[in-house]
Amino acid sequence: MKNSFIAIALLISTSFSSFADEGMWLPYLLKQLNEKDMKKNGCKLSAEDIYSINKSSLKDAIVQFGGGCTGEIISDQGLLLTNHHCGYGQIANHSTVEKDYLTNGFWAMNKSEELPNPGLTAMFIIRMEDVTERLSKNVPTYFTATQKDSALKSNMKLIEAEAVKGTHYEAFTRPFYYGNMYIMFITETFTDVRLVGAPPSFIGKFGGDTDNWMWPRHTGDFSIFRIYAGKDNKPADYSKDNVPYVPRKSLKINIKGTEEGDFTMVYGFPGRTQEYLFSDGVDMLMSKSDPVKVDLREKRLEIMDKYMKADDQTRINYAANYASVANYWKKWLGEMTGLKASNAVEKKKAWEKQFLEQVASNAEDSKKFNELFDEYHKLYEEYTKYTRQLDFLSEGLYGINAFIYARNYEKVINDTKDFKAGKNENFKKNFEKTKASLLGFHKTINREMDIKLMAAMLDAYDKGLSKGEKVPYIDSLIVAHEGNTERIAKDMYANSALLNKDKLQKIVDDIENNIETISKDPLYVLYSKTMAYFNVQVRPYTSKLDQRLNEMYKEYIAGQMKYMKNKSYYPDANSTLRLTYGKVKGSEPKDGIVYKHYTTLDGIMEKENPVIDDYIVFPKLKELYAKKDYGQYADKNGKIRVAFIGTNHTTGGNSGSPVLNAKGELIGTNFDRAWEGTMSDVMYNPDICRNITLDVRYTLFIIDKYAGAGYLLNEMKIVK
Ligand code: ARG
Ligand code: GLU
Repeated sequence: MKNSFIAIALLISTSFSSFADEGMWLPYLLKQLNEKDMKKNGCKLSAEDIYSINKSSLKDAIVQFGGGCTGEIISDQGLLLTNHHCGYGQIANHSTVEKDYLTNGFWAMNKSEELPNPGLTAMFIIRMEDVTERLSKNVPTYFTATQKDSALKSNMKLIEAEAVKGTHYEAFTRPFYYGNMYIMFITETFTDVRLVGAPPSFIGKFGGDTDNWMWPRHTGDFSIFRIYAGKDNKPADYSKDNVPYVPRKSLKINIKGTEEGDFTMVYGFPGRTQEYLFSDGVDMLMSKSDPVKVDLREKRLEIMDKYMKADDQTRINYAANYASVANYWKKWLGEMTGLKASNAVEKKKAWEKQFLEQVASNAEDSKKFNELFDEYHKLYEEYTKYTRQLDFLSEGLYGINAFIYARNYEKVINDTKDFKAGKNENFKKNFEKTKASLLGFHKTINREMDIKLMAAMLDAYDKGLSKGEKVPYIDSLIVAHEGNTERIAKDMYANSALLNKDKLQKIVDDIENNIETISKDPLYVLYSKTMAYFNVQVRPYTSKLDQRLNEMYKEYIAGQMKYMKNKSYYPDANSTLRLTYGKVKGSEPKDGIVYKHYTTLDGIMEKENPVIDDYIVFPKLKELYAKKDYGQYADKNGKIRVAFIGTNHTTGGNSGSPVLNAKGELIGTNFDRAWEGTMSDVMYNPDICRNITLDVRYTLFIIDKYAGAGYLLNEMKIVK
């Protein structure tokens, strides 16, 4: 092992007794770092069974689904299991008021009924490789940071190109531990992924946003897709002639059930964590950033909710958007509450103090890190001035649908200019697609609601920032309208040609002669003036701060590894393949409250309420419940279990991840975390952090008994 950084990590691992619960581990280092510990905790597999480049292993059954979720292969015909909320956009796209698959579910009764989803991808990891040493070749230490960065990038391109030469694979490289380590990933991406089945929302989204991020939970959060390939079994764009993909590995499904204390692991693509944040960074996140974002989302949700309840078409058109706004609203609320309740800032400070005490034994390091800590204080103080503006941009101004829409015209203007200058040959051909999507925007919007949203966001922007923090153009607009943002929004929708279908049609039909018109359009002006402000007044400063902070974290984490040996150092999540392991386990989240480790169908009937959307239950499920028609899916007490919790360390992106037993058999699908523990992205607490898994027996029960799509089970390998 050449990488000295990893050599240190390995050294620590031998002195450290147990990693279980906390940590998102690199599959190719399991042998060195985790295998022993995993076995001690009950795992029956070897590291090589989980990740191998020499034989088929569990990793060959895992995909990154649609770029942001995880999915697992559960048959030799490319059948893929993920969450309902991960396939939600696709299910919504196929839905109409007449054929409302969101509400009623969808089941293909044979392969010819499966529905294609343009743009949807399933990405496998072929292998991963530490390229830290190779990347730093020919990068002399006297280079400046910028020179180093560009040398590194050009090395990266060469190494990636060489790695995939002559194959249909792709490669990308990501920094780990703030750039102490770089890993290259070789991937294979399929683009013909069809919808096979989805339960009705009263199952797949049972409890809705009310129960989201909460335990006890009863959401049947699953949907089923199938990967198709060309006749050669390689990725191919959608074609009628494509055939079901034959995977290198598919998961066995175990329906014997699981109990408290059982070993579990979750294999997937966690998105982003910040476990090594300095105390000032935690404080900024918890007391400055999260509250602003939560508040702005709350305002949006309130407006959307009203309009979506009043009109079915609006409900369908905005369903996916609403769900994603609601999701992180609640997550941030849980995170800031949890960080506060567990004194996260004080804990970080105590750790930092201890670190400086340890470092004191080495005069040179001591000086270095004391200075580094002073700099942290200084930089975060500076950063705090900008976060508020950035949060009001990302959650306020970007919360205006028309504003996000205006963003498209930046590219349109540039492309058209290039075309006129003779630099963009394919422009005409490509513009047809662009045109369709620009006009398409008008098919699905609810103007009245969008006007209200714009007014509310501008108003919040105006009231939430002080004079010197506001985009001058927006400020002047609001002043000119005497603070009446509703009038601004109404005028905007009345006067902007981009927000008028007929006028827009004329513009795009003659795009070459309309660049001026677009540039002067009031909506585009609002957008471009805002961006110009941020690009000059904010981003240059924050990106400098980001760059410097990154360098500092690189030093700090290496320092912690050197001096604080009593801790496990796993890399932060960065949307790459990881394994996390723990146990099925209940918890005591608050004084007087005990969480049992599983829920059952009984709980669905308890929550059932025909007048609350989130708790509607259709008659057919009630009948199955009344007749106790559970077949092989009942537990030893004759109950249908719905979900269970455990101590696996997961985050956003782990949705849809397989939850596996000690033998690597599928026992469930990960879909959420318990609210009290959503702070685990910043600080994991083994007492309260729990991942929520959909019991695979409930999934099969719904497919078989509820949907009548039991034919799918014939493809699966079921362990009874
Ligand atoms: N909280 C889960 C996750 O982060 C589930 C989200 C489903 N969306 C929803 N709005 N209920 O993705
Ligand atoms: N629902 C989340 C997702 O989509 C997983 C929950 C979490 O953040 O842990 O990835």
